[in-house]
Amino acid sequence: MPSTKKILLSGVKPTGRPHLGNYFGAMRQFVELQGTYESFIFIADYHALTTVQNSKELGEYSLGVALDYLAIGLDPKKVTLFKQSDIPEHTELAWIFNCITSMPYLERAHAYKDARAKDKEINVGIFDYPMLMAADILLYDADVVPVGHDQKQHLEYARDTAAKFNRVFGETFKIPEPLILKEVETVPGIDGRKMSKNYQNTIELFASDEEITERVMMIVTDSKTVGEPKDPDTDNVFKLHKLFATKAELSELAERYRHGGIGYRESKELLGKRIIAFMAPLRERRAKFEHDQTAVLEIIREGGKRARERAQKKMVVVRRRIGTLLGGETSK
Ligand code: AMP
Ligand code: TRP
Repeated sequence: MPSTKKILLSGVKPTGRPHLGNYFGAMRQFVELQGTYESFIFIADYHALTTVQNSKELGEYSLGVALDYLAIGLDPKKVTLFKQSDIPEHTELAWIFNCITSMPYLERAHAYKDARAKDKEINVGIFDYPMLMAADILLYDADVVPVGHDQKQHLEYARDTAAKFNRVFGETFKIPEPLILKEVETVPGIDGRKMSKNYQNTIELFASDEEITERVMMIVTDSKTVGEPKDPDTDNVFKLHKLFATKAELSELAERYRHGGIGYRESKELLGKRIIAFMAPLRERRAKFEHDQTAVLEIIREGGKRARERAQKKMVVVRRRIGTLLGGETSK
């Protein structure tokens, strides 16, 4: 029986190990919502190819994302887990979108402008990134797309592209909504800027206890000493406490900050302990799946089969709309 649930879709690029920003900004929502929506969660390996151009690395990172998904609690019985490159319809649809999208419109993308500003040699994949992402989303008629704030503009591209296609060829695509949680839209890194691999300010999700402690001790603070009052709203350590502490713990800690009842060292030690306690079960689950790679690959293969069936059906409609299905053809 077809599900009547609304559809959720999201993906993570396999470019390295995930960090707290990825987890709290996006991945945790996948887990929390997996029972509420019919969910499609994938490994965005063709997006990663814009920067990761080494077969060993791309393979390792992709398998890594699969393990991360399972470790954080995604249940393959509830969620269709798949690899983007297993579904050629994504790139096919991206091409079709290319043909209804203007260059100046894509030139306005933040990611592209940032890459240019850094004077990097930019490949066409980076420029065209939003079209592949629009295809990822629209192919499955997604209602909601949980992401961090940095993906907001990409969601706008997907929405605009759906609307443009519908105007040109007739009603075909649903307009997706971003799902961005205000409290965690931008998780700060250890230097206070957005946590990002590019800034080398991350705390990795599956780091060892020692690594976590070491990174937490490196969090940048002002130079106030133990007895001095401190502002919890601007302190980087406190901002990260917010992700792990209960409400009661937080308000107690905020009081201690304001009255000079805690030094940054103690606050960091407390944070380190909280992160470690939080991570332990996730890390254990990841290790278990790591020892059963065959099962992981089977999950991705199965998910790919389900996703592909759906994608193929949608592409029949798309082909009919654009006119590449001839005469009585019903599919290719
Ligand atoms: P990526 O690894 O770039 O594919 O990112 C995976 C998800 O994590 C995306 O939805 C991002 O928006 C989200 N994300 C990455 N960094 C942060 C951050 N510092 N705060 C909140 N969300 C983030
Ligand atoms: N661009 C996203 C990121 O960097 C990853 C991604 C690719 C994605 N395709 C998607 C996220 C579709 C949501 C939906 O984080």
